[in-house]
Amino acid sequence: MPERDYAATVQAIRNVAAGGAAPTARLQRAMELIQARHPQYQWVGIYLLRGDMLELGPYVGAPTDHTRIPVGRGVCGTAVAERADQVIEDVLELDNYLACSSTVRSEIVVLIWEGDTILGQMDVDCDEVGAFGPVDEAFLTQVAAILAPLLKHA
Ligand code: SME
Repeated sequence: MPERDYAATVQAIRNVAAGGAAPTARLQRAMELIQARHPQYQWVGIYLLRGDMLELGPYVGAPTDHTRIPVGRGVCGTAVAERADQVIEDVLELDNYLACSSTVRSEIVVLIWEGDTILGQMDVDCDEVGAFGPVDEAFLTQVAAILAPLLKHA
């Protein structure tokens, strides 16, 4: 996908984030925008970090059983434990994977920061192997920075 398409989505999310709706509604709208504009982003959601637990926030895609994930578990909990984004080429190669749906094959988790504090993360799944790479991480890092102030009120 051309980089300008990601740039256009970032601008659209800036507009949503600056809007007057409730913070949770703005986060939900941002998730919907990303999924609508980028077809490989099949499940797109936010987990909020509360203590040692990730709690599911606004998302688009199939409902998941993983509404609460302890730090250290799965791809999501590993990102927090290691304080590092995760780009998973093929989830079937992982031991430490929590399946949202049996059809998912690749995943990216990008942390949402305030200074050096982790507020939460963006999690994206795709049914194709290797759907995500450095361009996606850079895009989601920009999105995370825009959404970070809203997480504190979600
Ligand atoms: N796959 C994630 C769990 C979240 S669901 O995919 C939405 C993990 O392994 O932590």
